[in-house]
Amino acid sequence: MNAHMKLEGAAEAPFYLPQGDECDVFATAAQADFPVLLKGPTGCGKTRFVAHMAAKLGRPLYTVACHDDLSAADLIGRYLLKGGETVWVDGPLTRAVREGAICYLDEVVEARKDVTVVLHPLTDDRRILPIDRTGEELEAAPGFMLVASYNPGYQNILKTLKPSTRQRFVAMEFDFPAPQRECEVVARESGLAEDRVKPLVRLAGKLRSLKGQDLEEGVSTRLVVYAASLIALGMSVERAIDTAMIEPLSDDEDVKRGLRDLVTAVFG
Ligand SMILES: Nc1ncnc2c1ncn2[C@@H]1O[C@H](COP(=O)(O)OP(=O)(O)OP(=O)(O)O)[C@@H](O)[C@H]1O
Ligand SMILES: [Mg+2]
Repeated sequence: MNAHMKLEGAAEAPFYLPQGDECDVFATAAQADFPVLLKGPTGCGKTRFVAHMAAKLGRPLYTVACHDDLSAADLIGRYLLKGGETVWVDGPLTRAVREGAICYLDEVVEARKDVTVVLHPLTDDRRILPIDRTGEELEAAPGFMLVASYNPGYQNILKTLKPSTRQRFVAMEFDFPAPQRECEVVARESGLAEDRVKPLVRLAGKLRSLKGQDLEEGVSTRLVVYAASLIALGMSVERAIDTAMIEPLSDDEDVKRGLRDLVTAVFG
């Protein structure tokens, strides 16, 4: 198995707190055999959502982290030498197609165009995967679903999907949970009591309002979970915030000073 792919079991669904009707929308898209594109900032719950839905739908999940070195063969498969023999080894996409699993392409805009084009016959009504190397043309098993995600914010503007790729997906926009829900998520994930989580979430809201001015990206729910987890483990609130919610956001001393002023405004 390649380092960049992971098979999650269909055991108990990982915790995911819905923000709206996204679970229903995803389930209906799955029923309709439509590929789904999830857009949203880093650390807002996209990956968790896919893991949750895969378990809920009882489908295996293959996750591929896309990058610009990823080749079509990494997705589809290749001939490998095994004990003096050449054997064909399916890539994660091919496995998902055969098994009726969900194939999740994380950060899909990082993939090269020649890789995304491989997805075309799979993501329209043909639902086939031609494997040039073996001459096979695989029909996707029932249950096969392609899910892709990306962050429209920080990426190079040139790195977008071709319209012909984009327009093969139904798309859903994700954002950070509303404060009350974010408190619930962070408390649940970190084990820190909700009344201690609340000011962290309030701070996160203030830090996010700086996005675009001093910061490329607002602080993620992931980082708020980190801060709360460090506090739950006994770290002082001040140190935890600095380590998990300030330092990761910027290297610029002036910007960090500004961020710390916000901390003082929230915590006194
Ligand atoms: N609605 C939610 N329910 C449960 N946990 C959540 C939710 N939203 C965020 N989280 C928490 O935030 C963390 C980060 O979420 P996740 O890894 O899914 O982000 P992501 O959107 O995939 O980010 P990236 O784009 O960087 O990959 C999760 O590990 C989880 O602890
Ligand atoms: Mg993710």
